[in-house]
Amino acid sequence: MILVTNNEGTLGVPTTARMLAAGHPALDAIEAGIRLIEADPSVRTVGRGGWPNLLCELELDACVMDGTTLRSGAVGALKGYLHLVSVAREIMRRLPHEFLVGEGAARFAHEIGATPAENLIEDSRRVWREWFDRTLTPAQKQAWPNIPLAELCRHAIDPETGRDTTVFLAHDNSENICSGTSTSGWGWKYPGRLGDSPIVGAGSYADTRYGAAACTGAGEMTIRCCTARSIVLYMKKGASVADAVLEAVDDMRALKTGLINRVTIHAIDTGGNHKVVAVNGSAANVYWLWDGTGDPRRCPAEAIALR
Ligand code: GLY
Repeated sequence: MILVTNNEGTLGVPTTARMLAAGHPALDAIEAGIRLIEADPSVRTVGRGGWPNLLCELELDACVMDGTTLRSGAVGALKGYLHLVSVAREIMRRLPHEFLVGEGAARFAHEIGATPAENLIEDSRRVWREWFDRTLTPAQKQAWPNIPLAELCRHAIDPETGRDTTVFLAHDNSENICSGTSTSGWGWKYPGRLGDSPIVGAGSYADTRYGAAACTGAGEMTIRCCTARSIVLYMKKGASVADAVLEAVDDMRALKTGLINRVTIHAIDTGGNHKVVAVNGSAANVYWLWDGTGDPRRCPAEAIALR
């Protein structure tokens, strides 16, 4: 058994590890852990308390993947609900689809009785308001929100400078390997922007035969590289989990133009091994590891600069 989460997993790690130790399926344990983080407003890029988009609306994304069935459930740009990870899980359970976004996702969340919530907290509204007052011209303020927003995206907040998206990877005692993610994405993003967190193969991927991977940080980069799926594919082709992650980092070196920023890659294999690399991140980047015995512990990620 193994559990790896990023540092934002702090609130959920004890519950997830306890459930895995008690023999619960990995997906149940991941969902329970992520729900705790989604409900806590101190984690500023997940669920309640997340950063809003340019229009000061919270649009949340999440994904779960069952590496044994290779089914996933993903939800993107959903407003007004608290536990995105559970909505994603119900998409996997109840629908023949893998991914719902926007109004359709809200309709589904209502239909299944998901918990409605006002996730925008007063502090997020205050910070957004200060940005608005400081950044926009008087003419833009008067015409708001009917102005072009594209230029304003330059002010997007890098989540890894604050508190980040959460990702969970787990291998349970029935040999299932699963993944889960949840995020509010980048602060001040263009409305409708999806990062990698809800995109299977980019922000997460799990295959019980080989392992799993999940990413945090600039989803624009991992979408372009299909990072999570690539890592699992490299393992399928015989690479160790460490070499698979380094190969995925090498893929990122080919990215030209566009947003090149920070990404942290987390990966596990079937043998209880793992690798976490902070690409363009600081040496202070840490993650949680529970290896099936004792208490979960914080470990430093390996820092790699792209150029
Ligand atoms: N990795 C989270 C995002 O790009 O939204």
